[in-house]
Amino acid sequence: MRKRILTGDRPTGKLHLGHYVGSLRNRVKLQEEYECFFIIADLHTLTTKSDPQSIGTVSQNIKDLVLDYLSVGIDPEKSTIFVQSKIPEISEFAILLSMLVSISRLERIPTLKDMIKALKIENPSYGLLGYPVIQAADILVVRANLVPVGKDQESHVELTREIARRFNGLYGEVFPETKALIGDVATLVGTDGKAKMSKSLNNCIYLSDSPETVKTKVMKMYTDPTRIHPTDPGHVKGNPVFTYHDVFNKNKKEVEELKERYKKGTVGDVEVKQKLNNALKEFLAPIREKRNQFENNSGLVEEILNKGAKKTKTEAKETLRLVKKAMGLDYY
Ligand code: TRP
Repeated sequence: MRKRILTGDRPTGKLHLGHYVGSLRNRVKLQEEYECFFIIADLHTLTTKSDPQSIGTVSQNIKDLVLDYLSVGIDPEKSTIFVQSKIPEISEFAILLSMLVSISRLERIPTLKDMIKALKIENPSYGLLGYPVIQAADILVVRANLVPVGKDQESHVELTREIARRFNGLYGEVFPETKALIGDVATLVGTDGKAKMSKSLNNCIYLSDSPETVKTKVMKMYTDPTRIHPTDPGHVKGNPVFTYHDVFNKNKKEVEELKERYKKGTVGDVEVKQKLNNALKEFLAPIREKRNQFENNSGLVEEILNKGAKKTKTEAKETLRLVKKAMGLDYY
C-alpha cells in the first residue's frame, strides 16, 4: 500500500513564491508517489483570530488557497484537498488526544511562544495552547505516515509522534509511526533582502500577482547596497536578485554570465532585474494559465472540496471507530 501523507496550510491569504519553494513544488512531486491529503486548517486560524471580521475573510481565503494549489499542479484526481471544519471528527478526536498531553509540555512548544510574541497576544486562549493537539488530530485522523512541513512545524510533528506513542502504549496499536519530512530549501529570501518572504513583512511576490505587479516588485528589489554605479564590482552572494535567478531562471548560462559581469562591474542592476522579470514571467505563465482555467470554471472549487471532505470523512470515521474501540469508549 502507498504511504500516506498529510500536510496543509491555514487559510490566511494567498500563497507566494516562498511557499512554492518551501512546500508546494515538493507536494506536487510527492503526489505522484504517495497518497496525499492536503488540509485547509480553518479551525487553526481561530486560535489566534476568532473575531467575526477575521472569520469573514476565511471563506475567500479558502478559495484562494485551493486555486493556488491547483494552479501549481496539485491534482485533485490524485490528491485529496479538504477543509478541516468539514470533518467534525477531527474536533472530537482532538478532545480525546488532549487527555494525553500535559499543559507544561504544550507550554514548552517554541512556535506557540513565537506566535504569542509576534501577534502580541496578552491572554492566550485555551484553544491556542491546544493548537498542536488539533494538528496532531489532523495528522492522526487519516493515520498519516509522513508530514512534509517546514522546520518551524517540526515540533508539532514531534508532539504528534509522542501522542501517538502514548496512545498506542496505553490502548493498543492503532497509529503508524508518523515522521516529519523537512524540505531542503526551507525559506526564500524576501524582495527586501530580509531573511524570509512573508506576508507580514510585505516583501512577497504572490503566485497570483499580475505580470505588471511582478515587474514593479522586481524592479524595486533590494540588491547589493554597496554598489553605487553599474561599473562598481558587485556582490552576488546574499543578493536576493541572484538568489531568485538561481531558483527561477531556467537559463543557467544566462545566470552564470550575469553573475560574472556583475562581479566585474559590467552589468547594471536594471538589466539583471529585467532578466529576472523575464524569467519569472516564464515561470509564472503556466501557473497563471491554470489558475484562469480553474477560476472560470464556477463551482469547481466547491466540487473539489466536497469530494475531498467525503473521502477524508470515510477515513476519519474509521479512525474514530478504531480509537473508541481501543479506548473502550464503544459502549452502547
Ligand atoms: N500548522 C500549520 C501551519 O501553520 C498548518 C497545519 C494545520 C498543518 N494542520 C496541519 C500542517 C497538519 C501539517 C499537518 O503552517
